[in-house]
Amino acid sequence: MHYVQIEQRESVAILTLDRPERRNALGSELLSGLTATLAQLSNETAVRAIVIQGAGKGFCAGADLKEFSGDDRDAVSRLNLEMGAFVRSIPLMSKPVVAAVDGFALGGGLMLAISCDLVVTSPQARWGLPEVSLGWLPGFGLSTLVDRVGLVRARRIAFGAEPFDGTEAVAIGLADILSNGQPVLDKALCHAQKLAALPTRAVGSVKHYFSLMTRNAEVMDVLANRVYAQDAESPEALDTMRSRRGEK
Ligand code: COA
Repeated sequence: MHYVQIEQRESVAILTLDRPERRNALGSELLSGLTATLAQLSNETAVRAIVIQGAGKGFCAGADLKEFSGDDRDAVSRLNLEMGAFVRSIPLMSKPVVAAVDGFALGGGLMLAISCDLVVTSPQARWGLPEVSLGWLPGFGLSTLVDRVGLVRARRIAFGAEPFDGTEAVAIGLADILSNGQPVLDKALCHAQKLAALPTRAVGSVKHYFSLMTRNAEVMDVLANRVYAQDAESPEALDTMRSRRGEK
């Protein structure tokens, strides 16, 4: 699969976002690789839990800003909606998914991590939403952010003025577990193995039950995408895109 690696360790599959030269930015190819891979893993009976990690220096730098700066605004809007649909599909799949965050989880990378059932982070990892500083509203995932940290704190994180580390991410409930003193992947694998050892059906039932409580997420993502598209016409956003295209 393009930009995605899979490795099986006993009953846990490790899915690696493998685009380190772009800091695992979510472009359309990586996104289709991820979507196809998760669909495949959800059908494999030997896989009872999944760990998602990033290759190279970090977990994921968010939406691919080069694709986001292209001229075809409809294509960008579609990509936003697809990223939202992908991260919303994680709680809907019956197998537990654990994020292993090292380095950075920014923008859509933060949204991807917090959509997993369990989030393990290194204390030094850099968390944040840079979208507002680029000129636009984060285009998906804000409902999950609210579910994890509450509305007021979610709004503060969405402003993105103060990126924070993994220790703070756990303290505020954005992430679940600190890797303290252990490689993040080892810690994530340890938790994934515990989930994998539980009765599969009952684990799936827990996921299904809780997913029913977050029914508004899709509607809120459609709204966020619409607002994003309007923000993307602002002078600040147009400047961001020009500079990402290498123009003055
Ligand atoms: N989309 C597309 N390309 C990205 C990217 C993104 N979100 N983030 C990083 N890259 C690319 C850079 O453009 C650079 O490519 P180039 O060498 O062809 O120019 C390459 O990845 C390395 O980036 P660099 O900034 O040198 O890496 P770093 O290790 O010093 O810093 C980050 C890593 C993630 C902290 C930094 O790249 C960053 O802040 N990225 C933007 C994050 C962001 O704003 N995300 C929100 C998107 S809506």
